[in-house]
Amino acid sequence: PFPETRVLAIASHVVYGYVGNTMAGFVIQSMGCEVAAINSVQLSNHLGYGQAKGTRATAAEITDLYDGLKASYLDEFDMMLSGYLPGASAVEAVGSIARDLKYKHTMKPGSFFWVLDPVMGDNGRLYVAEDVIPAYKNLIKDADLILPNQFEAETISGIKIVDMVTLKLAITTLHERYRIPHIMITSISLQSPGSEPFLAVVGSTFTTAVKPRLFRVKIPAIDCFFSGTGDMFAALMLVRLREAVFAVDGLYETAAWVSGDEVAPTELPLAKATEKVLASMHQVLTRTKVSRDAELERYEKRVGTRNTGEDEKRLKLEVSKATEVRLVRN
Ligand code: ATP
Ligand code: PLP
Ligand code: MG
Ligand code: NA
Ligand code: MG
Repeated sequence: PFPETRVLAIASHVVYGYVGNTMAGFVIQSMGCEVAAINSVQLSNHLGYGQAKGTRATAAEITDLYDGLKASYLDEFDMMLSGYLPGASAVEAVGSIARDLKYKHTMKPGSFFWVLDPVMGDNGRLYVAEDVIPAYKNLIKDADLILPNQFEAETISGIKIVDMVTLKLAITTLHERYRIPHIMITSISLQSPGSEPFLAVVGSTFTTAVKPRLFRVKIPAIDCFFSGTGDMFAALMLVRLREAVFAVDGLYETAAWVSGDEVAPTELPLAKATEKVLASMHQVLTRTKVSRDAELERYEKRVGTRNTGEDEKRLKLEVSKATEVRLVRN
């Protein structure tokens, strides 16, 4: 449906389970694109387990791997995806890589695309060092799509999001301050007056041809806390957006807008992509929940019959940790 796509993905690697590159690699490949992975950290498991062993890459190590690709002429990337980075200098190194790749494409402007997930924190809590914030602020201007969660959007815009008005202000501020063309807030929980609280994603595109105009998709919330879903969202979005952009170029390029620049949300590549991404997320997470509940039941039974201390510990962990997304069907 679209030309061969090569993606450079820079994010975490975990030995067990799926977050960061372990998630993104599987997703991007299963969607038919080629992926080269630079692992920013290598950990035994995701952070929801309360402990993890492993190592973090330095900025020099990340740069060195990229230089190695270049020296072997393996740096023909169409897209880049960046996720969790272990410190301000790693953030700067990734910014340099992105600019280098972008520069290679100046003969065909707009043909390189960087999806940046500015991983800094969640639910009001920062989980990187303070100096990572200004480091991200410095490189967002070079990204094409950013995927902050609500907390990260607040952090980089300086605007506390409490309702649709402040949400719109935050997004407009980000577009204007950083000249960033596409913004998706990957999860937002808001209370609209007089109705149930809801989970949603909100996106916006701002280019010379399109004025910023927010769209929102509500998400049926599944009663479970997952790990890796931010990365799954990012990887799916990257591929679906590329598909949508090629569909627009191929099919609608010469069509006139019906009324000025009033673009119907579903005609926006970003909105089209979002609908597909959320449909996939919902399928996978629904199955994950079923499988996780069955696993819990098995542990509960074991604790009830044998009741060794280990079984009880395992059960407690299974209940408290962020659930692993099940990607492989059994
Ligand atoms: P980050 O990884 O930067 O913290 P985030 O907090 O936005 O991003 P998630 O909360 O994992 O990441 O949400 C990403 C997407 O995963 C959502 O847009 C939604 O599609 C899906 N998702 C995550 N948790 C749930 C849930 N409990 N019910 C339904 N969908 C969910
Ligand atoms: N644990 C580690 C080591 C990670 O790198 C990440 C995300 O990159 C997570 C957990 C959480 O993943 P998510 O925010 O996608 O749920
Ligand atoms: Mg989150
Ligand atoms: Na995110
Ligand atoms: Mg994340």
